[in-house]
Amino acid sequence: MTVGSLLAADLVIAVLEVAGWLGGGAASAARHRRLALGLAAFALLATFARAITITALARAGWWFAAEKVLIAAPLSLAAVVVAGPRLLRGDCSRSRRGVRRAELEWSRADIRSVAVPLLFAGYAESGALLVTVLHGYPASAGAGLLAVAGVVAATAVSWRVLGARPSRVVFRAAVVVAVAALVTGTGLAAAPGAAPAVPHDHQPGDARTAGEATRRFTLTAGTTTVRVSGRDVAAWAFNGQVPGPELTATVGDVLEVTLRNRDIARGVTLHWHGYDVPNSQDGVPGVTQSAVLPGQEFVYRFRADQAGTYWYHTHAVSDVGVRMGLYGVLVVRPAPVTGVDITVPVHTLSGRPLPTPRTEPVGAGVPVRLRLINTDSTTHRYALAGTRFRVAAIDGSDLNGPTPLVDTAVLIPAGGRYDLVFTAPATPVALFVDGRAVYSTGAVSAATGAWPVLDPLTYGVASPVPWSRFDREFTLVLDRGLDLHGLFPRYAHTVNGAADPDIPPQVVRLDDIVTFTIVNRSLVVHPWHLHGHHVLVLSRNGEPATGSPLWLDSFDVRPGDVWEVAFLADNPGMWANHCHNLAHADAGMTLHLMYS
Ligand code: C2O
Ligand code: CU
Repeated sequence: MTVGSLLAADLVIAVLEVAGWLGGGAASAARHRRLALGLAAFALLATFARAITITALARAGWWFAAEKVLIAAPLSLAAVVVAGPRLLRGDCSRSRRGVRRAELEWSRADIRSVAVPLLFAGYAESGALLVTVLHGYPASAGAGLLAVAGVVAATAVSWRVLGARPSRVVFRAAVVVAVAALVTGTGLAAAPGAAPAVPHDHQPGDARTAGEATRRFTLTAGTTTVRVSGRDVAAWAFNGQVPGPELTATVGDVLEVTLRNRDIARGVTLHWHGYDVPNSQDGVPGVTQSAVLPGQEFVYRFRADQAGTYWYHTHAVSDVGVRMGLYGVLVVRPAPVTGVDITVPVHTLSGRPLPTPRTEPVGAGVPVRLRLINTDSTTHRYALAGTRFRVAAIDGSDLNGPTPLVDTAVLIPAGGRYDLVFTAPATPVALFVDGRAVYSTGAVSAATGAWPVLDPLTYGVASPVPWSRFDREFTLVLDRGLDLHGLFPRYAHTVNGAADPDIPPQVVRLDDIVTFTIVNRSLVVHPWHLHGHHVLVLSRNGEPATGSPLWLDSFDVRPGDVWEVAFLADNPGMWANHCHNLAHADAGMTLHLMYS
């Protein structure tokens, strides 16, 4: 069982457990003896099952189980200790007394006396579940105390309502415990994880580019209507087209791109996804520049010194902006093209897939490079049918010793790029994205759905890690949680229990070699993306990467995954480090890397 499915199973069992205890409590309050006993027995079983899932999760990594071990387990134990003996006694009294009618009446009354213990167990498990769902990692005394306060208060209320009143002393004690736990818990939970302020609005730096060949482009952002598979859809576009114009350069050129905003009210910027530009050119509003508002312009200038497949997109209200169409391709080639060299940026516009399929015959023996780009917020599956091929590059970096593949699919994370190369055979070839042909050299029918998927961590030839020391280490635990720091409460996507802008930045020094571990304890995929640097993958789920060195800027951290990556801090500035499911990024999953 993968850790991801273990996380899901644990959650389901916890819900069943809560339902069992609360249902048992309600049934006994209503004097449904059998139902009450049945539900309670079920809840007891679920509680033991959960002991197993929690243990397994703790063994997979403390991040997955911290609050479950520290808060849920003690509460479960209390639940079993309080409800268990009462149940056993209730059950024995029944077998001793038999089922004669008068005695059945008695035991019906009797069953009501276990209602409060069963409800207590239900509240305890609900409290623990809420801590997991609303608070998550790291476990905090504040959250634990709030859960205890809730459990005590709910139990006291049930006790009163059900008539079997606690003595004054007990009731008062309960109130005192609940209030004390509430006050301390709130205090502790509200204690600021105060993030040092992120300096904003840098002056645009100069990229020192005098005297080099300059490639000039102008991109004008505006609202428009574009035609996709026979239908007009509303879009936000650069120069009226989705994707925007393809920007190309040869290594060594200087790119000068003038961005103009015609009428995108919420502003627009250009971020060069995967291109490690100087910080002032990175296009993150509020961090490296201000958003370009309607009528304004901004000129980006940087040297194209990395060859490879990249893309650009707005970083202002990026979730909406990119989805609506403010993106395009950036390709930097080492030399003039020989053979066929095609970009395939995949996108979903208003629910319709782009690009529209194209078919172009290619002569046998011609070298072909397909540059696949995923500009959506979720993973896509690509399958190249009809030829042997190699994955020449991922995220713009060439792989070392890529071997030929056949009938193998690749999964590209949100923001990621794969370059597939092959020599055109005499027979047709087709590229499928999620089962839909988007590019072909002739008619191909192929069922690619059952193909194995390439694992880039074991593909190609290894070479030694270029560093022998690590100067700094970070851990990012991805989860969901309640964020009460803003104007309105929100169920945020969190990093280490906090949401943007309250996630403390990662602070490094120039030339540090930095490792960071990314742990996904949520139930959804988080495609991770660091600006300004490429990270080298060291391991995934404890298994070291054994293939070609993988220098990525976008990688899928699946539920239960633990990735260990490293990078050289060689590009000073303030950099976004975020989930590239842009809805998640906007819902809190963004932090910053800064140089001290
Ligand atoms: Cu492609 Cu910060 O984004
Ligand atoms: Cu995410």
